[in-house]
Amino acid sequence: MGNTSSGKVFTPTIEEIIEKIEEPRDVDCLEKVAKIIAQSNHIVVITGAGLSTESGISDFRTKSSGLYDNLQKFNLPNPTAIFDLDFFKQDPYPFYALAKELIGKEGQYLPNTGHYFIRLLEQHGKLLRNFTQNIDGLEFKTGIDRSKVVQCHGTFETATCLNCSTKYSLDFMKQCLGLLSINGSTKEEIQIPKCNKCDGIVKSDVVFFGEDLPESYFQHSKSDLQQCDCILVMGTSLAVYPVASLPNKSAKGTPKVMLNRERGGVFTKERMDENDYFVGGNIGESCLLLCEKLGWEKELHQLQQKNT
Ligand code: OAD
Repeated sequence: MGNTSSGKVFTPTIEEIIEKIEEPRDVDCLEKVAKIIAQSNHIVVITGAGLSTESGISDFRTKSSGLYDNLQKFNLPNPTAIFDLDFFKQDPYPFYALAKELIGKEGQYLPNTGHYFIRLLEQHGKLLRNFTQNIDGLEFKTGIDRSKVVQCHGTFETATCLNCSTKYSLDFMKQCLGLLSINGSTKEEIQIPKCNKCDGIVKSDVVFFGEDLPESYFQHSKSDLQQCDCILVMGTSLAVYPVASLPNKSAKGTPKVMLNRERGGVFTKERMDENDYFVGGNIGESCLLLCEKLGWEKELHQLQQKNT
């Protein structure tokens, strides 16, 4: 499956991704998972786009509703070209149209039960780190400490001129995308973000295929995975490397849990061992049930109330 130890982001060919089948939730397994979480004090959480679907943001690979099945309007050579640097340099428009949708209007997307569950792990002193592949920033809207989150695939919060490396803010990007007013007026149409200094194209600091992951990934991934006493994988197909290889990097015998609609990566029936657990169904409901079993419902409710 390619060089899975590389520090650059890449995905296997579609033939290499095992066909996905949605699975119902196994309640007995959920019970065991709650016990594991209760006993763990250094949990590594690995998240993907499936964590944010219940906030109204599409994931990438779910058939028909996923982003990669809905990019026909851009006439791309292939769906992942939207995150390809060479393609972007030729035609940045498709990426920016998608960026506009993903960034959304102020307050359009809010964290859901899954995001708050991770915040609760932090509140209970159990969260070692959340390695997120998401670029929507919803983790931070729960109030989680920034040091607890590694944004493996970068962020929309900053942007960089591809020519002279001048840095730009999210507000600059929002103005170009017609999401924020300039001197009181908002232009709805997208203007390709251009550098004020050299007129180069300004690219959001989102990691494209073939680009290096951020420094924070390399700083934390090895030591955290060696140190953790539980791995919780939520809402990812585990199809994109190097993040997909993280669950394999823990010490032998470390419990690994996946909360996802379908199995992926090391959580396929053939690859799982006695310390691995798969809980199917929607993350929001699984997390709510886990909160009930852990006695955290009141705190969950309080967090949700605070942020609405
Ligand atoms: P995918 O779209 O590949 O996987 C999302 C997973 O979440 C799928 O297995 C869904 O079945 C599952 N899912 C969706 N909603 C769910 C829900 N409410 N409850 C439970 N499961 C749910 O997204 P990622 O794995 O995040 O990279 O994709 C990884 C990377 O591929 C992205 O970061 C992006 C993309 O190309 C880059 O842009 C570099």
